[in-house]
Amino acid sequence: MARYTADSRDRVRDAVDMVDLVSSRTELRRAGPNRLTGLCPFHEERTPSFGINPVEKVYHCFGCQASGDAFTFVMETEGVDFKGSLEVLADRYKVALELEQEDPRDAETRQRRERLLELLERTATFYVRQLWESAEARGAREYLAQRGLDEATLREFRVGYAPSAWDTVLNGSRREGFGNRELWDCGLAQKSERSGRIYDRFRSQIMFPLADGRGRVRGFAGRTMGDDLRPKYVNSPESDVFHKRRTLFGADLARSAAAKAGFVVAAEGYTDVIAMHQVGLRNCIGIMGTALTEEQIGELARLAPEVRLALDADSAGQEAMLRAARVAQRRTPPLRLRVVALPAGEDPADLVARTGGDEIQRLVNESVAFVRFSVMRALGTGELASAEGRDRVIDQLSAVLGPMGPSAEREELRRIAAGRLDMSPELLEQRLPRGRAQREQAASGAPPAAAGSPGKPPSGDSGSAALGRREPTERSFLALCVELPELGAKALAELDLDADLTSAFTRRAASHLREHLAAPSAGLADDDPLLAFMRELAVGDERSARATPATFEIERLQLTLARLDREIAAARAAESGDVSDLARRRSEARERLAGALAQAMDGDA
Ligand code: CTP
Ligand code: MN
Repeated sequence: MARYTADSRDRVRDAVDMVDLVSSRTELRRAGPNRLTGLCPFHEERTPSFGINPVEKVYHCFGCQASGDAFTFVMETEGVDFKGSLEVLADRYKVALELEQEDPRDAETRQRRERLLELLERTATFYVRQLWESAEARGAREYLAQRGLDEATLREFRVGYAPSAWDTVLNGSRREGFGNRELWDCGLAQKSERSGRIYDRFRSQIMFPLADGRGRVRGFAGRTMGDDLRPKYVNSPESDVFHKRRTLFGADLARSAAAKAGFVVAAEGYTDVIAMHQVGLRNCIGIMGTALTEEQIGELARLAPEVRLALDADSAGQEAMLRAARVAQRRTPPLRLRVVALPAGEDPADLVARTGGDEIQRLVNESVAFVRFSVMRALGTGELASAEGRDRVIDQLSAVLGPMGPSAEREELRRIAAGRLDMSPELLEQRLPRGRAQREQAASGAPPAAAGSPGKPPSGDSGSAALGRREPTERSFLALCVELPELGAKALAELDLDADLTSAFTRRAASHLREHLAAPSAGLADDDPLLAFMRELAVGDERSARATPATFEIERLQLTLARLDREIAAARAAESGDVSDLARRRSEARERLAGALAQAMDGDA
């Protein structure tokens, strides 16, 4: 697809009136010179935790962590991709867009792809007509009806039927000017080993179109019926246009509901997704089996910050959940995972067919946090009577609790598990691999060697406990620097980034703020991991907006104290002689802190 010029994009950004744009979704009230707040349009809430900075044209929600600029705002609220958001905004704020000059080779590739997409699109329409109009599809119609699926919902998903002949799609497409090569390239044809001739890949099957996030059909899944000997589902082969590992079934139809609900429901099968939409769970997508890929998890994260997995309770479903958990935790911000506890042996489509919508709706509402679910399951199904059985359970617990950062929830689960395993929580902790690493680092007091890759905020599984504790404080100090820019500029200039801050993320944030204190979200690439945090600082929250020089001083002294604590612990651990100088500086800092606290309280009184 031809792209719009970078200049067009800048002109659109300049023309956008952020207050006007956001006000169409939520009522905003002014809360400071560069700050307006309102109820978050991305999740349900009663008190506003959402705000915008109309000058930098960014938004941030302190509740659901949604954050972005005018483009992402339109992408999220109107369910379009970046290019679509550019078009919507250009139209609304009267900016003429210009297309980039295309390299002739790129133009050719693009036109070829567009042809393939057009062929797939026409074929989807053809299959739909066959399903509802052809005599041959009567069995398919009856089958779908008997599964409890309505015509309206099936039409919305563009479910169709591929006729039994060997060449219907082939001939129809040729008549419309498409060549064999094109039929082959988009996966609609297959080749006979013997004759080398091509014929229709999908025959006598119910057809589920597999669309991308914009609703463009890129492939199909064909379902056989009755006593057909072929596998139950056959998919389009991988091609230039279709990549199963990136596809989420129904993503285009679920997008706006997912943004609104703040979570997306992930089911295994096509019929599950359709059944859920039919009973009003419109934020449901399908992962198409259980081999959930990293790319699919990326797509899920684009739909909502939370995923509720409505997967089979069988071991394949469990494995998919564990994999999802591992990938979800590595993301920044981490994708929240919850589990919908389905009745054993039933998938969502079965459940809806048997009980209607209320039951599945209730289970989705009552979803359980993934870690809690896994721990309870390991304890519930494990064989706790023998030592080997307990070892297996401990291995399962390690997989879940090991990578988790310290939290009240982890503590509680560890205590419950220790109780069931009849061992002390401390002993259990020693057997959880990550826990050991955390303790060692915390004991040494040294900043961890690998605090995530440079520029990436440390995720739950890459930092030490000490780091986990400090980073929020460091972030809130940086927020104060933005709110009180005069003091902030001075403090930032004086910081020793490596010694005063404990994570690669806050160090990079501080160094960025030294240059961009007045407009924190400026000067960063779109995919820079700092961007979300900088937007958050640009919007600012109530607490930092009330900041006074006295609170600033308190936070700054706390930073200094934490640094001295670390240096003293490190010197002791290394047994490197005299810590008296450090200790003296620490008591000075403590005295100053006591003074600043007293002053702040007087000020409040
Ligand atoms: N799947 C697949 N190929 C198969 C079997 C399954 O791609 N041979 C994928 C499909 O996306 C399917 C999902 O895995 O929807 C779940 O499989 P399964 O539970 O076996 O099928 P159902 O969705 O229950 O199928 P249906 O409801 O049509 O009987
Ligand atoms: Mn099923």
